[in-house]
Amino acid sequence: MASSLVFFLISTILILSNSISNAQPSSRPRALVLSITKDASTLQYTTIIRQRTPLATINVVLDLGGQFLWVDCDQFYESSSYVPARCGSAQCSPARYTSCATCYAPPRPGCNNNTCGVSPDNTVTGIATSGELAQDILAMESTNGKNVVSVVSVRRFLFTCGSTILLNGLASGVRGMAGLGRGRIGLPSRLAAAFSFNKKFAICLPSSISASGVVFFGNGPYIMQPNIDISTSLTYTPLLINPVGTSSAYTEEKSTEYFIGVKSIKVNDKAISLNTSLLSIKSNGFGGTKISTVNPYTVLETSIYKALTAAFIKEANLSGVPFTSRPRVGFCFDSSKVGSTRAGPKVPNIDFVLQSENVYWRITGANSLVPIEQAVGSLLCWGFVDGGSNPRTSIVIGAHQLQDNLLQFDLATSRLGFSSSLLSRQTTCSNFNFITSNA
Ligand SMILES: *[C@@H]1O[C@H](CO)[C@@H](O)[C@H](O)[C@H]1NC(C)=O
Ligand SMILES: *[C@@H]1O[C@H](CO)[C@@H](O)[C@H](O)[C@H]1NC(C)=O
Ligand SMILES: *[C@@H]1O[C@H](CO)[C@@H](O)[C@H](O)[C@H]1NC(C)=O
Repeated sequence: MASSLVFFLISTILILSNSISNAQPSSRPRALVLSITKDASTLQYTTIIRQRTPLATINVVLDLGGQFLWVDCDQFYESSSYVPARCGSAQCSPARYTSCATCYAPPRPGCNNNTCGVSPDNTVTGIATSGELAQDILAMESTNGKNVVSVVSVRRFLFTCGSTILLNGLASGVRGMAGLGRGRIGLPSRLAAAFSFNKKFAICLPSSISASGVVFFGNGPYIMQPNIDISTSLTYTPLLINPVGTSSAYTEEKSTEYFIGVKSIKVNDKAISLNTSLLSIKSNGFGGTKISTVNPYTVLETSIYKALTAAFIKEANLSGVPFTSRPRVGFCFDSSKVGSTRAGPKVPNIDFVLQSENVYWRITGANSLVPIEQAVGSLLCWGFVDGGSNPRTSIVIGAHQLQDNLLQFDLATSRLGFSSSLLSRQTTCSNFNFITSNA
């Protein structure tokens, strides 16, 4: 305990002396990493950022489409290096802020006059408030693609101050959200600007609550044990822009979320019949397909949900394994009756077909089904949810379907690289080596 405290103080002092010596980052890393943990009770994915003076570790929920990094500044924000972003300053200009804020209380982080106001939102509950844009020291782990190399820091990293009420609905111990959205003040853009690397990042969500996944910022390689570079052999599809923001914060801006163009859905290579009008993004922002880490399971508009579920039941039935409705848990297999493959239970494949017939995102048993233990035995249950008849977005590809898949977002070329299940490549998202080594 005492030795780890001493270590913490020494590393803090080292980082601070490093970063205070210049406004530039302490060194030019090739890429950065964050570890991702799955919270057992909320199924949210959390990560740890290191910020402030003295440096503090802050737990935040990872939000793929979120606007920016926001943290609660009402409580426990203590830092001698906090700098509010003043209206009209260079710091404010990328934010396209809508108001210049006044705060009728003693000054503190999150409460300063003449600061540009933005709207942090909790994308789990759909609540937004006003918040102060600010800067503070941020420290991150750099990587050579294979393991952690060192800790690097930026002296003035842009983020937003939110309030304690915004934390409702988030995993226990969490103090904010890390928005990886495509906007100009999203984490990917800010980190790329601070460390001068490509506006590119990749997420790899863990499937287990006991092992960490990883986010890479910057270029590959992304090497998982046993020495597999998962940044190679990605399939690419264009990222689409929804012209209307879907965040709960009022905004006239286009959405910071990541949409892709699903053209059809196949089950065991057979296309299911769909109302294709639902698959395109309308000018009012409705329709289309987005990727989300805050939805635990994929949510489908009712007619799509019914067609996919029926096709899956039919194909499973043809292969001799009944997929039947069970009380409370929905459609399930008795797991003792299902064979296994490298990529999970041996069940019909689901393909999200993209820009052409031969470009598809394949969902295998590990991602289509959820294991559930019951007194009567173990079940494998349907990992898709009915989103009702008029949802904002027709298909929201949720976290269960992203687990153990690498997704690389290239903001400069506006394309997504996806791997499908890494299990078939004999690795998982939990195989990154977070141990620090210069080798
Ligand atoms: C902001 O300005 C108002 C009025 O000018 C003043 O009452 C208030 O104390 C100031 N707040 C801060 C945080 O300085
Ligand atoms: C198809 O979806 C659109 C919404 O995008 C809806 O207006 C239309 O009525 C649907 N068509 C059918 C045949 O259900
Ligand atoms: C599944 O197969 C059984 C018998 O092989 C048949 O009676 C049943 O109608 C089938 N169900 C579906 C949904 O195809």
